[in-house]
Amino acid sequence: MLHAGWRSRRVAEETIAQTTTIDRYGVMGYPVSHSRSPVIHRLFALQTGENIQYELLQVSPEKLETAIRQFQRTGGKGLNITVPHKSEVAKLVDQMSERAATAGAVNTLTFKGGEIYGDNTDGIGLLRDLAVNLGVGIEKSRILILGAGGATRGIVGPLLEMQPTSIRIANRTLGKAQALADHFSSAGNVSACRFNVVPVSETYDLIINATSAGVKGEAPPYPAAAVSDTTFCYDLSYGLSPTPFSVWARECGAARSVMGWGMLVEQAAESFKVWRGIRPDTAPVLKQMSITA
Ligand code: ATR
Repeated sequence: MLHAGWRSRRVAEETIAQTTTIDRYGVMGYPVSHSRSPVIHRLFALQTGENIQYELLQVSPEKLETAIRQFQRTGGKGLNITVPHKSEVAKLVDQMSERAATAGAVNTLTFKGGEIYGDNTDGIGLLRDLAVNLGVGIEKSRILILGAGGATRGIVGPLLEMQPTSIRIANRTLGKAQALADHFSSAGNVSACRFNVVPVSETYDLIINATSAGVKGEAPPYPAAAVSDTTFCYDLSYGLSPTPFSVWARECGAARSVMGWGMLVEQAAESFKVWRGIRPDTAPVLKQMSITA
């Protein structure tokens, strides 16, 4: 029989051995307690047999750089970066993928050989959810994006690659929408306006809510006339109950109104692939998420 002191030392040693062989990842945001990323990555790890641990890290903006460098110094392999840090983090990386540079934002960090690599999987996550999971065609479609913040900046480039007929960015503050339209205008037909002057002579095939209004419990005057019974409405936000935008879209008679759970799972799968070289099958995870949602 082992002495209690020996037993506890052996347990401690086993714990250290265990933690040093598991690769550490996490999500950093502020606030972050609501994040579903740990659940999603645990399901991916179970499915693929990858030996990883994924942590929830609440870090305020002024402590961001210190927290990232500490995670790197203590052997962390990668981080997801979420609101409100995605633009700030872009300034800290040593190298950045083209899609992150276009978006001006980073949601995936990889620590390798003392360097920090930044990537952005949000755009591809949205495209996969729309095209693969939901069967929404982007090519030759007329798209209206509501909002002109970081979320919009991350999705315009990937959407333009699918060759829509046009993208109109409507925002409360015209200057921000105009700046984004100017930034992307060489890659396609992108224009800007305020919510109350969205042209509705033709209807929109796809309306994407990229404002943070719903998250803050606010309901902006979205342009109801832009919705027809053939319009697909997609909210980048998601919740346990329908978001204000998805309620609004249904009330306006949209063909379909979907929240961004699928984008969340798809961007996570892309991050997992960046880190582990394997892309998990998202279908069962998405199914499980909507059951637990
Ligand atoms: P993120 O980087 O997460 O997109 P952001 O840069 O703060 O966040 O942008 C949030 C977007 O939501 C902006 O387009 C913002 O409009 P403004 O550019 O006019 O600020 C929009 N937004 C947030 N709250 C809103 C509200 N109550 N009504 C309308 N738009 C709102």
